[in-house]
Amino acid sequence: MLSQKLEKILNEQIEKEGYAAQLYLAMASWTETQGYDGISEWFYAQHMEEIEHMLKIMRYVNERGGHAITPKIDKPPKDFEGVKQLFEAALEHEQMVTGSINDIVSLSLEEKDYTTNNWIQWFVEEQLEEESSVNAILDKLNMLDDKNLYIFDRDIMKMREEH
Ligand code: FEO
Repeated sequence: MLSQKLEKILNEQIEKEGYAAQLYLAMASWTETQGYDGISEWFYAQHMEEIEHMLKIMRYVNERGGHAITPKIDKPPKDFEGVKQLFEAALEHEQMVTGSINDIVSLSLEEKDYTTNNWIQWFVEEQLEEESSVNAILDKLNMLDDKNLYIFDRDIMKMREEH
């Protein structure tokens, strides 16, 4: 059985994963309207991953005797400044999520809930991958000028397979 504190923090994480899903969906839609079909595809795929993260936590909370709350999600921004700013914002968001996953790790140890501690390790690993994949994209973007965004857009989905 989950402690009340863990149930609460996991419900907060459900909301954060839900917001990440909506944020990436807004980014997918914006890049699609700008003609960046590859980048848009990348963000649509990212949206689906965040939905999966949200569901994974919801199901775990219920499995452990808690009650997963369907979150009310804030509306993400509609417009973005440019492709680089988009990935910078994505990285910042992932770093924030990594911080909150780490808080769950700490709380699970404090509460001596080793089942949750073991289960949350999947997210620790996932955050490492997500941050490194966005970092790799930003490194590439920093090497390019705007002219080469066409090639980047064409190739970005291949980077998904590599990470
Ligand atoms: Fe579910 Fe990208 O953190």
